[in-house]
Amino acid sequence: MSSDISGQTIIVVGGAGYIGSHVCKALQASGAVPVTFDNLSSGHEHAVKYGPLIKVDLRDKAAILTSCGDYKDASAVVHLASSIEVGLGETDPAGFYNNNVIGAFHLLEAMRETGLNNLIFSSTCATYGDTDQMPLMEDQTQKPFSVYGKTKLAIEHMIQSYHKAYDLKYLTLRYFNAAGADESGEIGEEHDPETHLIPIALAAAAGLRAKMKLFGTDYDTPDGTCIRDYIHVNDIAQAHILGLSKFGQGLKAAEVNIGSGEGISNLEILKLIADVTGSSVPYDAAPRRNGDLTRLYADPGLAKELLGFTAQYSDPKTIIASAWNFHKRVWGL
Ligand SMILES: NC(=O)c1ccc[n+]([C@@H]2O[C@H](COP(=O)([O-])OP(=O)(O)OC[C@H]3O[C@@H](n4cnc5c(N)ncnc54)[C@H](O)[C@@H]3O)[C@@H](O)[C@H]2O)c1
Repeated sequence: MSSDISGQTIIVVGGAGYIGSHVCKALQASGAVPVTFDNLSSGHEHAVKYGPLIKVDLRDKAAILTSCGDYKDASAVVHLASSIEVGLGETDPAGFYNNNVIGAFHLLEAMRETGLNNLIFSSTCATYGDTDQMPLMEDQTQKPFSVYGKTKLAIEHMIQSYHKAYDLKYLTLRYFNAAGADESGEIGEEHDPETHLIPIALAAAAGLRAKMKLFGTDYDTPDGTCIRDYIHVNDIAQAHILGLSKFGQGLKAAEVNIGSGEGISNLEILKLIADVTGSSVPYDAAPRRNGDLTRLYADPGLAKELLGFTAQYSDPKTIIASAWNFHKRVWGL
């Protein structure tokens, strides 16, 4: 399909991962060439199907500079590579700051040295922290609880400083809960270990894992469980396509939420999984986890205004059905 970005080369750092592989597929469908930079620490070589793979580790400053130099004519860089396991960040902050913050610093420096000047950065709703003000707007105070959220916020600040001092053009996308899989079933969520609710609950429904733990059933919500905003991974991918075309239209700097704008409780998700799979999800109620907020959902207004973005696939049942379609193939069901 021809688009504003047709013919462009786009560097996708973390393109072998869950969201990155869907971004690469959307780029190819838009006529662009996605070049994946990835160390395959949590991504998968088999998910890099839509353009070349350059094996490179962001923690290696010289190597990332060489790779950026090799692709210095690319139109933009999409930076998705990160350590993402929130619990691990609490016990290994050194590893998280090294991979996320130092890694991003190396990338920004390599971009500066090679003249790559347009960046889309994957940030997260975890940068906001505790607030009762829902839906979350972009100008909400950012006071993250977790080491993971803190590293992402540090990178947001670094990018803002590079914009101010060196005129880097950027779009920071703060995703809410990414979920679902491409309808082809060829790529999907394959984290190891998996910490996200939908794939864990699908595995429990399929009998592939023991009872899952439902953390917190005494929240002040209609069914006592937390409320989250799930956004289909292909909607997230589409937000990148829209964002990339905006660089050509003068976009200089922005932070934008990428969510559906709708909240759904953990228990409602488990019920939908039972509907989609035909098997109920076995679970044990467990105590609340530190730092889990009661409600978290986006105000998607700025994404619509600035990028023309509206979620297309993020009805929860569609999300779950697409994830189930992918996992059935992977699990051989
Ligand atoms: N999954 C979500 O719900 C969610 C929500 C908000 C934000 N995000 C952000 O989106 C991005 C992608 O998330 P994901 O779920 O696809 O994660 P993922 O783990 O599937 O993908 C991350 C990719 O980055 C690569 N990588 C990690 N460290 C690297 C390094 N030092 N050098 C080179 N490559 C490296 C991994 O191999 C992997 O392919 C992350 O930055 C994450 O913080 C994700």
